[in-house]
Amino acid sequence: MVKLLLVGLIGMLIGVFAACGGNGDSGNVGGQTAPATQATAATASEAASTSSTEANEPEFSIQYTAITRTHPTFEAMERFVQRVDERTDGRVEINMNSYPELGIAGPDTLGLLKNGTLSFAMIYSGYVAGEFPLIEMGELWGVYPDAETQGKVIRAVREDEVRMMREEFNSQVILYEFFENQFIFSKTPVNTVEDLEGLKVRSHSASLSDLLDGLNMDAQFVAFSEVYVALERGILDAGVTAGSAGFGQRWYEVTDYLVGPIEARGHVILAMNLDQWNKLPEDIQQILLEEGQKTEEETWNGTESWTRDSIDANVAAGMEYVDFSPEIREAIGQIAMERVLPNWVKRIGGPNTVTAAIFNDKVAPLVGVTIDPDGTAKLTSAAP
Ligand SMILES: *[C@@H]1O[C@H](CO)[C@@H](O)[C@H](O)[C@H]1NC(C)=O
Ligand SMILES: *[C@@H]1O[C@H](CO)[C@@H](O)[C@H](O)[C@H]1NC(C)=O
Repeated sequence: MVKLLLVGLIGMLIGVFAACGGNGDSGNVGGQTAPATQATAATASEAASTSSTEANEPEFSIQYTAITRTHPTFEAMERFVQRVDERTDGRVEINMNSYPELGIAGPDTLGLLKNGTLSFAMIYSGYVAGEFPLIEMGELWGVYPDAETQGKVIRAVREDEVRMMREEFNSQVILYEFFENQFIFSKTPVNTVEDLEGLKVRSHSASLSDLLDGLNMDAQFVAFSEVYVALERGILDAGVTAGSAGFGQRWYEVTDYLVGPIEARGHVILAMNLDQWNKLPEDIQQILLEEGQKTEEETWNGTESWTRDSIDANVAAGMEYVDFSPEIREAIGQIAMERVLPNWVKRIGGPNTVTAAIFNDKVAPLVGVTIDPDGTAKLTSAAP
């Protein structure tokens, strides 16, 4: 009887989540995303732990929360979940969800993971860099000339990120996932630097805003699921995101020009709350890490074709693709040195911090740019 009640309760909870946008983030395009509520998130983890007490149910039930369902990284995690299920003979069940469905705002995610409200979550640097400035080191837009270099940077500072996630944010990093190149989805044509001037553009991180503002655009932080409506209503003239992320949110319906790319393979950290991680037996921890490694590599490998596919898909949906002009590319390189890197140095607390030292020690040799004692960026070699 109790069991029946529990099943009914879980059914109701699932129903509630479905109503909140169970058919993916596109369900939230209308902008009905609820404000971040502790109650919703707490209910979610309760639902997860309740189901693990069911007879014939998996021994361990983990809830995974991504930024969005509408990106290939979500499909990569579906394959991860499948492999973990197979390798553990069903002992581990991972339920998948996304922030808009739970009504969670990006900037809260690290705190929610730290205190265990979220058990396993995708953490994006742009959302949480206020609390964790080092995390933005991999996404200093414009500073890294190509994806290869950026990949080296992300790998070089990985051990520092993993250590800090453990020590300061009570989390165990399971894997990274990568997003492909970023594009400006614009309502008006953009061929010259002048065309960018004054455009109200959606940004998703401080360093991206520094780059966009440096191009004389007017960068504004807007939650991913709310950009469509802002573009539709003319509150925004343009939005920046990964090519397939914008496609997934149907930005092609409200913009006409796909401009870029901003060379980037943005990484997100997929981490588990440390207390919940420590409750898992070692063999299961090992399986999660091993399968995570595969998914990480798979998404890194995927970024190149995702960029191509996303251009094709957006063009097929009616957008015109405009490659950045050499003039815009040059401007981006200059803004990166004069604005993106120095402003990040200010945000991390200045040139005499541990984070700046990590940059100079591990990143500078890869990119040929160092942070000077006065906090400015200095070119140390022409071609890294
Ligand atoms: C967990 O952290 C979030 C974000 O910092 C906070 O809003 C929430 O109140 C915390 N919950 C608990 C149970 O401590
Ligand atoms: C990723 O690409 C490399 C190099 O092409 C290849 O060796 C590796 O097997 C690929 N990994 C996955 C998981 O697809």
